[in-house]
Amino acid sequence: MRIIHHVNELRALLDDIRRAGKRIAVVPTMGNLHRGHIRLVETAVTRADFVVSTIFVNPMQFGRNEDLDTYPRTPDADIEKLTTAGCHCLFAPPVSDIYPNGLDDHTVVSVPAISERHCGASRPGHFDGVATVVSKLFNLVQPDIAIFGLKDYQQFQVIRKMTSDLCFRIDIIGVATERDTGGLALSSRNGYLSDAEKETARQLYQTLTQTAERLTHGAQDFRALEREAQQSFITHGIKPDYFNICQADTLAPANAADQHLVIVTAAFVGATRLIDNIEVTLKK
Ligand code: PAF
Repeated sequence: MRIIHHVNELRALLDDIRRAGKRIAVVPTMGNLHRGHIRLVETAVTRADFVVSTIFVNPMQFGRNEDLDTYPRTPDADIEKLTTAGCHCLFAPPVSDIYPNGLDDHTVVSVPAISERHCGASRPGHFDGVATVVSKLFNLVQPDIAIFGLKDYQQFQVIRKMTSDLCFRIDIIGVATERDTGGLALSSRNGYLSDAEKETARQLYQTLTQTAERLTHGAQDFRALEREAQQSFITHGIKPDYFNICQADTLAPANAADQHLVIVTAAFVGATRLIDNIEVTLKK
């Protein structure tokens, strides 16, 4: 696997790859790779000739009081996992290569409406940071396909809309969430949880699946389901941020007339904020 830190070197390598007629995939990550990330790379390997994974802890998507400084960084283990998964190139740039003029006076890519809901309401500016860095990575790599995990469902839809609105000729592919045996969605932030907190955190997916079942059995009052789920979190010692039943594409609030839904949630287990979701298709 080639390991590249600088933009010029990446561009030179990928010019050669493109001239050779190879199909390029990009798998953007912030590192501290777990089985979920590796599944993305494995998917990329089956769909492209040349796979570029990126590791960049993007300061623009972290709020002032968030965990940018303590975000787990495990470069050696990441390199080993990417190599085993068959990744061809790791691009791991310093902040100065991605934001050479700093962050304060930088062009911002902002995807309206969808970026303001759910996590966007709790983390103002977060999706502007994501959309801006992903646009840069798309311009640098110029991939044919890009692979993202569906655990970050809102991020996935923000990136899909951005790709369509800005006419990037890139197929955006979503890969199902990897879970532990108790249903906890794999996340780099699970490393902040104690064993007892992990057990509590499994309640997120249980509540999502219970609510999904009630929807498929014909429950009509979506707002009441949301309130009950939040109450159930509180009973289990979890502090809900949001639990929302939405239209899958726009993430706008859904009602009983909608067919393709997603339930998205964020909640605090101890000091750790976790997110999860489940898609539900209703028969009409
Ligand atoms: O999902 C992530 O790890 C990040 O939000 C991404 C897409 C790599 C952008 O920094």
